[in-house]
Amino acid sequence: MQVLADDDEHEGRERSESHEGRDGGTKGRMLTATNATFQAECSACHMAYPPGLLSAASWKEMMGTLDKHFDTDASLDEATIAEILPFLEANAGTSRKADSGAKPVLRITETGWFKHEHDEISPATWKRDSIKSASNCMACHTSADKGNFDEDNVRIPK
Ligand code: HEC
Ligand code: HEC
Repeated sequence: MQVLADDDEHEGRERSESHEGRDGGTKGRMLTATNATFQAECSACHMAYPPGLLSAASWKEMMGTLDKHFDTDASLDEATIAEILPFLEANAGTSRKADSGAKPVLRITETGWFKHEHDEISPATWKRDSIKSASNCMACHTSADKGNFDEDNVRIPK
């Protein structure tokens, strides 16, 4: 999992904030950083994506442009943003290539590591009715909402 934008330092923090930790049978890394406000505000339209999957620069850009959030308005008041953004930044991944350019990537699904991890999935598969969009992690990663992207929990729906 070296491609994943993260390091030991972050893992320590994630674990200390987590109430779940690593459960017995799970080999893969867990992204279990949690924040109640983030969970409440950022899981209405899609799962609350783990902060470790984007860089701090990406989260900062995203939280500053919520009124134009992927063609929807996901605006939040300043106090709420002031609570969520530091949480995202503190648990962000240390993305290598994705954000070295001028503009931070706002989609997890457009990062280099994401494309690399999913390069065996055909364009037709992404478009299946049961999947609809690469952004729909839960369609295949059955425990994604628990921060678990381990191979053992991947099931590509028909
Ligand atoms: C009003 C609905 C709504 C809310 C609320 C919302 N989002 Fe989104 N978000 C979307 C839509 C729509 C997309 C695009 C999904 C797609 O292309 O399939 C998206 C995409 C994303 C993506 C990119 C996923 C990818 O393709 O890699 C991230 C990251 C994201 N949202 C983070 C957040 C965060 C953080 C919050 C809370 C501050 C939030 N969202 C709240 C509607 C919402
Ligand atoms: C069409 C099904 C599908 C969707 C949708 C999907 N993935 Fe995956 N993902 C896979 C497959 C298959 C693998 C490769 C499994 C393996 O061999 O480890 C993978 C691998 C990964 C890995 C590496 C896991 C590891 O331990 O090596 C991560 C992290 C990941 N996906 C995150 C995401 C995120 C985040 C989303 C949503 C933004 C997403 N995936 C959407 C099918 C999917």
